[in-house]
Amino acid sequence: MAKVKVGCIGLGFMGKMHFGCYRENSKSEVVAIADVDDAKLSGDWSKIGGNIDDPSAANVDLSGIKKYKEASELINDPDVELVDITLPTFQHTDYTIEALQAGKHVMVEKPMALTVAEADKIADVARKAKGKFMIGQCIRFWPEYEWLAQIIKGRKYGRVKSAIFRRRTVAPTWGWQNWLMNSKRSGGAVLDLHIHDTDFVNYVFKTPKKVESAGVTGPSGGIDHIVTNYDYGKNMLVSAEGGWTFHGAYPFEMAYTVIFDKATAEFSTSKDPTLQVYTSGGKLETPKIEPGDGYQREIDYFLTCIVKKQRPKTVTAKDARNAIYLVKAEERSARDHRNVAISI
Ligand SMILES: NC(=O)c1ccc[n+]([C@@H]2O[C@H](COP(=O)([O-])OP(=O)(O)OC[C@H]3O[C@@H](n4cnc5c(N)ncnc54)[C@H](O)[C@@H]3O)[C@@H](O)[C@H]2O)c1
Repeated sequence: MAKVKVGCIGLGFMGKMHFGCYRENSKSEVVAIADVDDAKLSGDWSKIGGNIDDPSAANVDLSGIKKYKEASELINDPDVELVDITLPTFQHTDYTIEALQAGKHVMVEKPMALTVAEADKIADVARKAKGKFMIGQCIRFWPEYEWLAQIIKGRKYGRVKSAIFRRRTVAPTWGWQNWLMNSKRSGGAVLDLHIHDTDFVNYVFKTPKKVESAGVTGPSGGIDHIVTNYDYGKNMLVSAEGGWTFHGAYPFEMAYTVIFDKATAEFSTSKDPTLQVYTSGGKLETPKIEPGDGYQREIDYFLTCIVKKQRPKTVTAKDARNAIYLVKAEERSARDHRNVAISI
């Protein structure tokens, strides 16, 4: 079977990750890359966040791959079938629309855009586009979260009484031109980081009636630490905390604690094993989860959709747009100290 020919735009922290996923996947081959940074095009990826102690990152083999400094040139390269966009968020809208209008399949990182209005514009273009479209809401594909979504749906342990999600880290200062530390470019932690949990809550529990948030501004100038209660009525508590205001060597952690009628599920990237279930009968279970991570799995899913000529259903433009809508409601709630009703 012919491989899907991929062009990757933006070879930063997430671009490196996507590039690796396409290279390892038997359904795809990377035929082109684009970045404004000459060092990255030459294969010196040592300055990409997280590569500091990795000597092999200084010499990545990019032979046989076309290199562009201009994203539009990659988009208009007839060899490229799938355009993968891992640019800073404030550049998503223009390049996503350009690639969709060029007839390409498009994968763009989350958040799909900086605002709901921009997300609506993208969704509108995507609806009419020839190519398939997906947004990297990777938590929907993350094995421990996929497990949770299935357990909630199948009611293996009964109904959910309480679900608490956490996402904590230090400020990401590795970005190109330090764009993440400028909330006008990144949306702050509430849009860049916390949106993962907002989207997952909306995915598994559907739309909440209201959100009530407390938050503080941080180094980006936007809301960089937030705690939200999502209102699903009096019989279920759903909340999420997200922020990049932590200090020093504080390790990245994503986590959840979900209390069902008959068991408590506890997941944390800081624990080993990461996921355990404490049953009301006193048993401690370690569920078997799917291999791989959310990045590999979302990209494999998108490639499968392209090969099978099916529109992606697990994450749609509407889903990604609604996650932005909810985050913006949370932001308003935190700023104005009030509940915000949700009408999607
Ligand atoms: N899903 C996740 O878990 C996750 C994690 C981190 C980042 N992200 C998202 O991925 C996106 C990228 O974030 P990042 O941390 O990789 O950023 P980054 O700053 O590390 O990388 C951005 C790259 O884009 C390049 N670039 C900038 N403007 C360009 C242009 N016009 N044309 C070509 N190249 C250009 C820069 O040189 C840099 O290499 C953001 O939307 C972010 O929210 C998602």
